[in-house]
Amino acid sequence: MARDDTLILAVPKGRISAEVAPLFARLGLEPEPAFADPESRQLKFATNDPKLAIIRVRSFDVATFVAFNAAQLGICGRDVLMEFDYSEIYAPLDLGIGKCHLAVAEPAELVRRDEPQRWSHVRVATKYPEITKRHFAARGVQAECIKLSGAMELAPGLGLCRRIVDLVSTGATLKANGLVEVERIAEITSRLIVNRAALKTRPEELARWIERFKVAAAELSRAA
Ligand code: PRP
Repeated sequence: MARDDTLILAVPKGRISAEVAPLFARLGLEPEPAFADPESRQLKFATNDPKLAIIRVRSFDVATFVAFNAAQLGICGRDVLMEFDYSEIYAPLDLGIGKCHLAVAEPAELVRRDEPQRWSHVRVATKYPEITKRHFAARGVQAECIKLSGAMELAPGLGLCRRIVDLVSTGATLKANGLVEVERIAEITSRLIVNRAALKTRPEELARWIERFKVAAAELSRAA
């Protein structure tokens, strides 16, 4: 397949978009109008920089596109990097956006009679089977993971399992589904990620982008 030399930046869909917009403004990066149009089905967007285009994909897929050098740069949650541990991805910068945490949660009525120190085996619904298994294995508990792609807060109420591991931001989704956080696994923010091979073949351009993101993220955090 013929490729031009446009760099591709992969950004995640969803709630994080509201935090990506001010970052782009600080970078002076202006995507074409369709990027901000919720009705648009477009997935790739030109920007005011003729050498940079943006793609918008699911958060887990940001890492996949960058790991395979289909995108050279990406904005990616630490949760995704912890789950996959791609050797082809370099994550030089914490952007300080998308703050949330990964937690174990269970129904409020279970918390009252639960004895976590006595567990030898747990069954957990999650998008993050690797992180979950590692977390429990560290204290000798075997985790059986049921992989879901979303809405895991439904699982305990419907008898799929008693516990979930998921991202918690405001805590509203847990509360609305009668769940209580019982363990915090990791603090999460979004990182700038770069493909390692691209970093070797296009070092000046990518170093310039890393520096620009660094300045923009620092300005944003000062303004917050
Ligand atoms: C995430 C996460 C929780 C929710 C937590 O889902 O999976 O369901 O946000 O946020 P809260 O603590 O503020 O309620 P998201 O809405 O991003 O959708 P997703 O299921 O597609 O990941």
